[in-house]
Amino acid sequence: MERTYIMIKPDGVQRGLIGEIIKRFEQKGFKLVAMKLTSPGKAHMEEHYADLAGKKFFPGLISYMTSGPVCCMVWEGAGVVATGRKMLGATMPSESAPGTIRGDYCIEVGRNICHGSDAVDSANKEIALWFPEGISEWNSCQSSWIYEG
Ligand code: GTP
Ligand code: MG
Repeated sequence: MERTYIMIKPDGVQRGLIGEIIKRFEQKGFKLVAMKLTSPGKAHMEEHYADLAGKKFFPGLISYMTSGPVCCMVWEGAGVVATGRKMLGATMPSESAPGTIRGDYCIEVGRNICHGSDAVDSANKEIALWFPEGISEWNSCQSSWIYEG
């Protein structure tokens, strides 16, 4: 089953949005298979956002992302990478639809609450980077009420 890496950024943690974000993913029907609160170092965060290393906003992004603990999660479910991105909303909060996490809870791109993997390949890389210890496999008693077969 497909998995994605969702990370509540330091502003999301500080603003008490961990429960709200978990609630949305749980209620959708996705399954939580790994979670931890951690304060990553600069090098780790630079590796996570390596694709953006040349951007003007990169130093600010790294300083924001290392300013406090982040809540790291792996969620599992059919289509969870693309659907997870839709649930987060557009990168720019001014363009994020109401009803999405960013659309409902933030104003500026440099404080946009949460991260979600943008493709299955990057999800697998990010899961390996953030959870080298592995994830927790479990069978949900809800699965036959969420999936047809
Ligand atoms: P993530 O889920 O965090 O990876 O966001 P994204 O995939 O929607 O966007 P992208 O990977 O392109 O950018 C990563 C993060 O960098 C964004 O979520 C923003 O926090 C930040 N960012 C992107 N573009 C800008 C920008 O133009 N200005 C600033 N200040 N930050 C930006
Ligand atoms: Mg991204």
